[in-house]
Amino acid sequence: MAGEWHCEKRTLSKNESFPRENENMIETGCLSIIVLGASGDLAKKKTFPALFNLYRQGFLQSNEVHIFGYARTNISDEELRDRIRGYLPGGKERTEDVSNFLQLIKYVSGSYDAPEGFQALDKAISGHELSKNSMDGTSRRLFYLALPPSVYPPVCKMIKNYAMNKYDLGGWTRIVVEKPFGKDLASAEQLSSQIGELFEEPQIYRIDHYLGKELVQNLLVLRFANRFFLPLWNRDNIANVQIVFREDFGTEGRGGYFDQYGIIRDIIQNHLLQVLCLVAMEKPVSMKPEHIRDEKVKVLQSVVPIKDDEVVLGQYEGYKDDPTVPDNSNTPTFASVILHIHNERWEGVPFILKAGKALISRKAEIRVQFKDVPGDIFKCQKQGRNEFVIRLQPSEAIYMKLTSELDLSYNQRYQGVVIPEAYERLILDTIKGDQQHFVRRDELKAAWEIFTPLLHRIDDGEIKSLPYKPRSRGPAEADVLLEKAGYVQT
Ligand code: NDP
Ligand code: BG6
Repeated sequence: MAGEWHCEKRTLSKNESFPRENENMIETGCLSIIVLGASGDLAKKKTFPALFNLYRQGFLQSNEVHIFGYARTNISDEELRDRIRGYLPGGKERTEDVSNFLQLIKYVSGSYDAPEGFQALDKAISGHELSKNSMDGTSRRLFYLALPPSVYPPVCKMIKNYAMNKYDLGGWTRIVVEKPFGKDLASAEQLSSQIGELFEEPQIYRIDHYLGKELVQNLLVLRFANRFFLPLWNRDNIANVQIVFREDFGTEGRGGYFDQYGIIRDIIQNHLLQVLCLVAMEKPVSMKPEHIRDEKVKVLQSVVPIKDDEVVLGQYEGYKDDPTVPDNSNTPTFASVILHIHNERWEGVPFILKAGKALISRKAEIRVQFKDVPGDIFKCQKQGRNEFVIRLQPSEAIYMKLTSELDLSYNQRYQGVVIPEAYERLILDTIKGDQQHFVRRDELKAAWEIFTPLLHRIDDGEIKSLPYKPRSRGPAEADVLLEKAGYVQT
């Protein structure tokens, strides 16, 4: 069937206006972006490239922006620039954009828990603010913590004591923190309290980069601005929903970190659960960040406790060859978990969250499967069920499996449109003071409440990870679980 899909697209626009903490203040002061943990993996692969792309697109103007890297490693400005260069688009060719961007970056070395380093950092930032003739109190400081969570509390304390902007005439200090935010409910709450004593909630940006992905950002528009979906999106029509993440590579040098966390903490409790919220939430009162986050919290609070027989765990063969992984590790690199939402819209509809490393392909998608047509007269021709698929990556696409397919493939429909990286969007949102796509403290708590009992049982060895072959679909038991949940292969 030929057909074309239209849904609203949200792309970056310089004229977008977002609500800010100081709604009436005009932001004129210079902007300092400080990447803590600048020597690390995330900084070079994601944070600096995202900043570069924002710079290239004119969102970061060199007359008002400066970028600082901070970490313990003793390197010079030039050495940091050399580490980053190869990860920037055009970096190897040393284009003019790349050189100009790298010149904006200064490096300060120091520890994460002693004043000296942060005093030196503050001095460097203040020097930059002075050089830009920024009025006292108007400067903006964005601290991006590309660091292991164990150092968040001392780092936040140091920022608060030694590196805040001094006054508040429209200026601000914001903190971006990465996942994993805690290991379970108690540790996450402890971390939240420690940071909460130092910063107000509007200053804290808990990043989940899945919320910055193009099609995740468009989910609410898709659901609530298209009349077509409104009457269908409920238990009367939908049989089951799958939210799937697959990677075709293993833990690759991150085994030490991964073994402490496992796939549920790494992917499901945050990225997939955030997507579930947007798929399942009720229509918010408005598109204000607080209204959206209120609805997300309600969904999370309506999830019923997970049953052991609705969980399949797996670990790929070869995972324990990594010398940083203990030989007796039970840490899952694959999990399929069924969640049930106890509310009027979703009672009886299983939400299957599935994530795995070292699988057959790399893919992240949402599959909404509709119920069989009542009184179907085509049964003998095996028409299959309707399925609505939102492919988050690779090659963003939205398609509907009818008796044949309606397809909106982004790279066909929006040829030549460059889709910004998730991190670019989210950093820009932080600068603009828009917390819509960041996780609020109560949301985080509700997310941990769902998974903590299961995680504790796994940590205690009560649920075993089944072996699976690398580059496979994962344990066969996961397909059995899927069938049990009512999924019908189309
Ligand atoms: P790294 O292990 O590379 O750590 C970043 C920097 O932190 C290091 O360069 C090091 O800098 C410092 N550091 C490392 N370990 C410690 C420690 N035990 N105590 C104090 N400082 C330490 O981490 P990543 O860059 O991979 O990740 C940073 C954060 O982002 C983490 O929270 C991670 O979970 C999260 N994240 C990472 C992703 C990735 O793809 N890498 C993806 C999503 C989230 P120095 O020694 O110079 O001070
Ligand atoms: C990170 C996980 O949060 O997301 C990684 O820690 C994973 O293990 C990554 O590889 C996947 O992100 P993306 O955007 O490539 O799907």
